[in-house]
Parts: sequence; C-alpha cells; structure tokens
Amino acid sequence: MPVATTPPPATPAAPPPHKWSRRHLLGLDGLTAGEVRALLRAAAAYVPVATSTQTDTQELAGRTVATLFFEDSTRTRTSFTLAARRLGAGVVDLSSGASSVNKGESLLDTARTVEAMGVSGIVVRAKQAGAAELIARGVSCAVVNAGDGKHEHPTQGLLDLLTLAEAHGRQDALDLSGLTLVIVGDVVSSRVARSAIAGARLLGARVVCVGPPALAPASLAALGCEVSGDLDAVLPIADAVMMLRVQFERHEGSESLRSPSVPSPREFRTLFGLTRERADRMKPGAVVMHPGPMNRGLEIDGEVADGPRSVIRTQVSRGVAVRMAALRLCIG
Ligand code: CP
Repeated sequence: MPVATTPPPATPAAPPPHKWSRRHLLGLDGLTAGEVRALLRAAAAYVPVATSTQTDTQELAGRTVATLFFEDSTRTRTSFTLAARRLGAGVVDLSSGASSVNKGESLLDTARTVEAMGVSGIVVRAKQAGAAELIARGVSCAVVNAGDGKHEHPTQGLLDLLTLAEAHGRQDALDLSGLTLVIVGDVVSSRVARSAIAGARLLGARVVCVGPPALAPASLAALGCEVSGDLDAVLPIADAVMMLRVQFERHEGSESLRSPSVPSPREFRTLFGLTRERADRMKPGAVVMHPGPMNRGLEIDGEVADGPRSVIRTQVSRGVAVRMAALRLCIG
C-alpha cells in the first residue's frame, strides 16, 4: 500500500561482511552489516544461557566489568550485570549518586580511576551524547555504550533486531529484507530509535518513523528512514511497531508537551497512541515492541503491551544475551 512519507536519501552499497574486531561498542551507526550480524549471532548463541537461572559460562572468568551509570536505568543496568556474571566476570557498580562525579570529578577521570583498579571493560550510561566515545578515547580497556543522551543505545538496538528477527523467523539469516519497522512517537529524543534505525537499515529493513513534526521531524530522513505524520496510514504496512516513551525529561522545560508545536498528552494518545483498536488493525503476524520504560495509557495501552502481539518481554529477555555478546566480543 502506498504511504505518503518523506523518503530517505539513497544508501551507499554495503561493505563486505566481516567478523567483530573492535575494542569498543559505541553505536550501531558506522558498523557494517557483518559486524551487526557477528554480534547478533553471538547473542543468539547465548540465549539458552541468558534465559536460564542455573547456567553460566566461564568465558570472562578472572575479568572485572565496571558499570558506570550516570543516569537512571532498570533494564540495561540489570542485564549488563547479569550478562557479566553469566560470563563468569566480576562486576563493580558505580552510579552518579554514589560517586565522586557528585563532587565535580569528570566522567573521564572517573572512568580512568576505575580502569586503574584493573577492570577489563567499562559499561557507561550518561546524559551527554558522545560520553562513551570520549571515555573510549581516554582508557585502554573496552568500553560499551549503555546509552549516551539522545545519541545511541547500541545494545538496545541489537536486542530489538534480535527480537524482530526471531518474531519473523529470520534469526538464522539475520536478514530483515522485506520487513517494515514502524517507530512511533518521540523519535527526536530517542537514542533507542537512532540505534534501531541504523541496525535495521543495515539488515535490509524498511524503517518508517511516525509522530508529530516536533517529535518526528522530516530531517530524520537523513538517518535512512522514511517519516510520516499519519500513524493510521502507516499501521497496515508494519511488520513491527515500536512505540517509544514520550521523554518528558528530554524536552526543554517539563511542560513541553503542552507547547503549541507538540500535541497535548490527550491529543498525542488520540493521534499516535497504540490503542487496542489500532493494534487490531495491524497485519497478521505483526508485532508490538517497546524499549521501556512505558507510559501506559499514553503511547501504548496496557492491554496492547500485555496482549498477543507484544514481544516486549522477549526484548527484555534478549537484552541479557545481547549484552553477553557485547561484553564477550569487546573484552574477550
Ligand atoms: N530501555 C532502556 O534503556 O531501559 P532502562 O532505562 O531501564 O535501562
């Protein structure tokens, strides 16, 4: 079905596939399709270990991973800790509330201090876009980006790709050609969307971002996606709909959703919320995704989040496997 969207620019030919040989995982943009597949293949192999409470490997035995979280997290932080432990590594946790960052120490000095104590890898989440790359330039150990401002969240992107591939029986080929991923809502604030767009495009999917112009501006097409303001027109072509949290905290001023350029929460839900009625109009086999945390009743209804199309809990589960793969490939 033709859908009026802002088209992306032509994408260059993909470079040849190759194995993972990088020290750091800072983003999916800039990786090759071969590198993304190498990470996903490793993650798929870890799924049985990641989803068991009774098994682990000793592949990183004797190593220590530091998780530096300077911004709140439930899923990412917990799953990196579980992933490191299931690889046999030790874990040290540091949060902004309990570190000398509160006394004015820079993120880089904090990372270097932790590295000097003998860690093999640093997992970092920070409010500042580019923080993980800055740290990677200043330390010798591996650095994995656990979310940097509005920039990227590469392990979230990978778990989204793995979930999407599994949902459509593509987990062996890891080729998403012919599938359409629709990303809805506060795309402009979303590091999750940036990583998902980059990864999905590398694996051959069509990506359409949907939202009001203030949250899904036409300029997003530069990322390689299409852009639409009409969810109801796009829904029938979706093989997966990824709803994004409206990130009130990232808009300038806490009242930004009430600014003239952005719909009110009620209008947002009316135009862009994934209600039961909208979910019922999706294609057979199409799935519903959400990176979490969710604003139930705003961007997604509870009965859709918990309904038969939802793969949200699979996303969470695959997060452990993906983070095992990221740690193993970067540190090991
Ligand atoms: N999806 C995600 O990054 O969730 P957390 O903020 O809970 O880690």
